[in-house]
Amino acid sequence: MSKNIAIDGPAGAGKSTIARRLAKELGYIYVDTGAMYRAMGLFFTTRGVDPHNKERICAAAKDASVTLSYENGEQHVLLNGEDVTGKIRTEEAGKMASATSGFMPVREHLTNLQKELAARENVVMDGRDIGTCVLPNADLKVYLTASSSVRGERRYKELVEKGMPADLDVIIADIEKRDEADMNREVSPLKQAEDAVLLDSSDLTIDQVVEKMMEMCKEKDLIS
Ligand code: DC
Repeated sequence: MSKNIAIDGPAGAGKSTIARRLAKELGYIYVDTGAMYRAMGLFFTTRGVDPHNKERICAAAKDASVTLSYENGEQHVLLNGEDVTGKIRTEEAGKMASATSGFMPVREHLTNLQKELAARENVVMDGRDIGTCVLPNADLKVYLTASSSVRGERRYKELVEKGMPADLDVIIADIEKRDEADMNREVSPLKQAEDAVLLDSSDLTIDQVVEKMMEMCKEKDLIS
């Protein structure tokens, strides 16, 4: 049977960096589910669909097919056959993903795909509802978080390093707005699963978080 690790938490907690590193150390596949919601968000943006128009979102969702492929261990996201991996990494795509991810037809399509993949392969999967909805029987569940100011500062540094314009206060406000939306939506809200380990990375480096998670994997016999 395949082995599954679920990592959930709010935007900017470092989930993808940690999950990617952990997957590499364990020889598992890394599944970034946020990227799948971002691809759906991109689809609605290019179609000019208002993210608050439930009827139109639900009708349009039927025409979107999101699939994953892997090249040298890196996840690629395909939207109706087109590789959109690069295009979805904008703040705009993140906001659109958050706004449209609360609708059932959007989630159904993506969660089915995520469950199928985890049933076949050893995965480290990150997102908002992995431990609570997608993989309720995961071998290890971690809820990774950090204070909104620390998450904002990390995002700010990333943008500055890329030479992009950044305003720390705006970034923190955006992060808090996204937390609010992701945690309070009706369908599959972001919350810590009862059997998840809470890991606050506010005062930890990436290496320290990975080390802690590797210890948990050792305890659960997830290292082959
Ligand atoms: O992790 P991210 O920032 O790339 O995710 C973008 C948005 O997608 C996030 O704000 C909420 C949504 N999402 C979700 O609803 N369920 C998931 N499993 C992953 C992401």
